[in-house]
Amino acid sequence: MMKVTFLGHAALLIEGNNIKALVDPFLTNNPQYTKNEHHITNITHIFITHGHEDHVGDALSIARRNNATIIVNAELAHIFSTKDATLKIHPMHIGGSFQFSFGRVKMTHAIHGSSFLDGNELKEAGAPGGFLIEVEGKKIYHAGDTGLLYDMKLLKDEHIDLAFLPIGGNYTMDVKDASLAARFIEAKTYIPIHYNTFPLIRANPKEFKKQLQDLNVLILHPGKSINL
Ligand code: NI
Ligand code: MN
Repeated sequence: MMKVTFLGHAALLIEGNNIKALVDPFLTNNPQYTKNEHHITNITHIFITHGHEDHVGDALSIARRNNATIIVNAELAHIFSTKDATLKIHPMHIGGSFQFSFGRVKMTHAIHGSSFLDGNELKEAGAPGGFLIEVEGKKIYHAGDTGLLYDMKLLKDEHIDLAFLPIGGNYTMDVKDASLAARFIEAKTYIPIHYNTFPLIRANPKEFKKQLQDLNVLILHPGKSINL
């Protein structure tokens, strides 16, 4: 059995055979996050969807402490490796997939920006993405930060078990667009993310659930888990 824990904002902890991974581990400055040592120990992999601070978060320090492999686009892989040559990094890119020890990972398209603030310097960080992550035969989709994409229709052929979609608006899809995305994706279960962390991304997850009454929507509060 594998388990996914929502850590608030867009951060996830995925635990299963051969994997204890974080996705977008924005923890330190995340007002939705409650500290728990279990979330940051024995980490094997860290997925980063794009270079914005609310997604890179604590990734580099957690990777260093755990000797975890960072899975990220090639541009950020380059930026991170020049900052610290000892980091274990697996570069990927949009549309590419790779068979890891725990299962297959595919990097998906997201429509958004991506830059990395390195000290005072804003570095161009390649295209933003999302991830399809297969663990123990179950497929998770983390959309990253994205607007509504007609390409999401292609994801229905991926037979996704659990889809994490941003609903906060302003920077990403809002409830209305995320509901349409859900209809495109045809996943078994949807969990809304990237909302109510900051005033600019206020949204009502119950409205998302209401728009998708005929589908399986789970409002997962920060710190709570789902077993698959
Ligand atoms: Ni972003
Ligand atoms: Mn974001």
